[in-house]
Amino acid sequence: MYLVTGASGDLGRRVVRRLREQELPVRAFVQLTSRYGELEQRGAEIFIGDLRQERDIQKACQGVDYIISTHGSNASTGSPQAIDYRANIDLIDAAKIAGVQHITFVSVLGVDRGYEDAPVFKAKWAVEQYLQASGLNYTILRPSGFASNLLPLAERFRQTGIYLQIGDPKIRTSIVSTDDLAKIAAESASNPDASRQIFAVGGPEVLERSQIPQIFGRIFNRDPIVINPPLLVLDGVRTVLGLLNPEAQKSLGTLRTLLANEFFCSPAEIDRLQTTFGLQMETVESYLRRYLSV
Ligand SMILES: NC(=O)c1ccc[n+]([C@@H]2O[C@H](COP(=O)([O-])OP(=O)(O)OC[C@H]3O[C@@H](n4cnc5c(N)ncnc54)[C@H](OP(=O)(O)O)[C@@H]3O)[C@@H](O)[C@H]2O)c1
Repeated sequence: MYLVTGASGDLGRRVVRRLREQELPVRAFVQLTSRYGELEQRGAEIFIGDLRQERDIQKACQGVDYIISTHGSNASTGSPQAIDYRANIDLIDAAKIAGVQHITFVSVLGVDRGYEDAPVFKAKWAVEQYLQASGLNYTILRPSGFASNLLPLAERFRQTGIYLQIGDPKIRTSIVSTDDLAKIAAESASNPDASRQIFAVGGPEVLERSQIPQIFGRIFNRDPIVINPPLLVLDGVRTVLGLLNPEAQKSLGTLRTLLANEFFCSPAEIDRLQTTFGLQMETVESYLRRYLSV
């Protein structure tokens, strides 16, 4: 039995899809408020719980052989401390008690750079250390930004031609197809070459951010109108927010870190990924064209 946490999320639901296509048994950890109809239709066993509750995690782990941890914090469902850190520590502890054979943990590219102002990066780094010391068999995936994040932006572009790009347009990224990442996550437990390994996971090309509106322009055959405020605007918002809500100010640190820094994989890292998992990573343009049917 596979347990997928964050099963209703962008990545999690693709992981469940992938496992169910192979008719593997899956328990999908969701919240009562999550959108989980598709998971149920695909034959996943639905486990309703809250990752802030250790007892729910312990219960969800019973009878489980493999765990794929894809959950992540957001403003309404818990802080980085509660969701990205504590829920994963509880999951690892419960996995040991339940005799789980393998855990796949979805971390983030750049987690090892010591960003002090980014609570999600700090949480994931601490979880990586804990997992490696746990004695459990594991695979750690460190993805760059997901291509699925671009879909709502592309839809807005389709209607308005406008693209909002905060910060330096020359910053480089290797956005990963969320479907490729799901395939890698779903196969990590059964791939002996992925055992006790850490993989940087990115797309096959290194793009400057300024290339993204150009890709949208090609897809929809219209010239992009790029609005490009400097990062200082976000800093201004953070300062004002800090006066009203210090917690929200802290959580914006992760976004600022993502906007201010480069996150891309080297050709050697992409080669290793493609060789280990036997796949050809998809480009951003191909991914977007598939989903936008253009
Ligand atoms: N998106 C990116 O570009 C990116 C890049 C690098 C790494 N990552 C990491 O990749 C993972 C997947 O990202 P994603 O974009 O797929 O995330 P997502 O779409 O935001 O999904 C997060 C999932 O976590 C669940 N969750 C949150 N709080 C919960 C709670 N208290 N109890 C139970 N479930 C809870 C959510 O449930 P609901 O559906 O009910 O809200 C949702 O299923 C995350 O760990 C993220 O940090 C993401």
